[in-house]
Parts: sequence; C-alpha cells; structure tokens
Amino acid sequence: MRAHLRAIDAVIAATATGEFSDAASAAEKGLGIGHQHGVDGLQSGHAFMPPEMLAYGSAMHMNARQLAVTLRDAEVTGDIPAVLGALQAVTQQCVACHDAFKLTRGD
Ligand code: HEC
Repeated sequence: MRAHLRAIDAVIAATATGEFSDAASAAEKGLGIGHQHGVDGLQSGHAFMPPEMLAYGSAMHMNARQLAVTLRDAEVTGDIPAVLGALQAVTQQCVACHDAFKLTRGD
C-alpha cells in the first residue's frame, strides 16, 4: 500500500518535469499487474481478500497499465490532461476500495 502511494508520487513528480518515460516505468513497477507489493512480496494478501475487494484491486492494476500506455503516448503528444485523467482512474480505485473496506483488529 505504501509502495502504491510512493509510486503515485513518483508518477506525478516525473510528469511534472516532462519525464514521461520515467513516469511510465514508475506506474508499471509500482502499480501494474506484476508489481511486487513491497516488502510483503508478490500477491501479498490476495488469498484473504473478498471478491469485491479483489475487483477494486484488479481494476486499479488495469487502470495503472492504461496510465503507463498514456504516459508513453505523452512522450510524443505531451497530452497532460490525458495523463491526469488516466492517473485519476487509478486513484479513483484507491479511494473506492478505502471507502468500502477497513481493517479491524480481531481482538
Ligand atoms: C483492493 C482494495 C484497495 C485498493 C485498490 C487500494 N487500497 Fe490502500 N488500503 C486498503 C486497505 C484495506 C487498507 C487498510 C485500511 C485500514 O486500515 O482501514 C489500506 C491502506 C492504505 C495505506 C496505509 C498503509 C499503512 O501502512 O498504514 C496507504 C498509504 C494506502 N492504502 C494507499 C493506497 C493507494 C495510493 C492506492 C491506489 C494506488 C491504494 N491504497 C489502493 C485497500 C486498498
């Protein structure tokens, strides 16, 4: 999760300086389908997630893939509004899942 936030920050920072290729790499590595979920390793916690939660996560990863494509397009087009739209499609899934699920202590 913190790795996701770090990746969003890296995408914004690289986009702000026009380094779209770096931003695309950050999106792919930190938010894409194959990312490593930080120190917990690949697929961290997926086995414990209810189906609705998995759906938010999978939508987030698919939207991150689209973000990376949009960023690579922006290397040619410089289309910042398209980048922001694609980025918001990712953060929308962060917000939606956080609104829907909270961790509670078992004791
Ligand atoms: C599939 C559901 C889901 C998605 C999608 C999701 N999160 Fe989370 N996230 C959670 C849950 C559940 C928690 C724990 C919340 C709680 O304790 O109430 C959490 C916690 C966090 C935390 C706090 C971590 C900590 O160490 O305390 C951060 C930061 C965070 N998420 C960032 C993000 C960002 C950024 C995104 C989008 C790129 C994102 N999350 C997408 C479910 C999700």
